[in-house]
Amino acid sequence: MKIPLKTKRDAKKFAIEFAKKVKKGDNIFLIGELGVGKTFFTRELVRKLGFADTVNSPSFKLINEYTQSINDFNILHFDLYRLDSTKDAEYLGWDDYLASADICIVEWAEKARDIWPLDFTVLYFEYDENFDARFVSVSWG
Ligand SMILES: Nc1ncnc2c1ncn2[C@@H]1O[C@H](COP(=O)(O)OP(=O)(O)OP(=O)(O)O)[C@@H](O)[C@H]1O
Ligand SMILES: [Mg+2]
Repeated sequence: MKIPLKTKRDAKKFAIEFAKKVKKGDNIFLIGELGVGKTFFTRELVRKLGFADTVNSPSFKLINEYTQSINDFNILHFDLYRLDSTKDAEYLGWDDYLASADICIVEWAEKARDIWPLDFTVLYFEYDENFDARFVSVSWG
């Protein structure tokens, strides 16, 4: 099912609803074109999950860790945009990160598709053909 995210307000509401289903151990993979709203969604989700950290795109360092939580868990936020291949993800220690983090949120997760874990949730973000509306669809792995 495609959920329309016409405005940032819609995207925020969706993040708040989605947060209710998130649990420790989840790997949340975000797929979608440049600027479609992956980081915005992550920011709202991380906030709703009870974290006070600033959420920015980890484009340069590839990984942000959020720990300022009222909860007893951490979140790793990846942005794999700069990776060229699965090999790079392996080099990054992706497997170990996924295994050790409580919750992983991964922008551009398709860059490591060959080495996805068994359990994951994918959120596909897309624009309509005129680039004037956005949608998201959820698929469980
Ligand atoms: N549903 C929405 N409606 C309108 N604007 C939005 C929506 N979601 C995000 N935006 C805005 O679009 C811009 C790009 O969003 P964002 O940085 O989250 O994209 P991204 O998918 O993470 O991009 P990148 O691929 O570069 O990481 C931001 O200014 C953000 O506030
Ligand atoms: Mg981003």
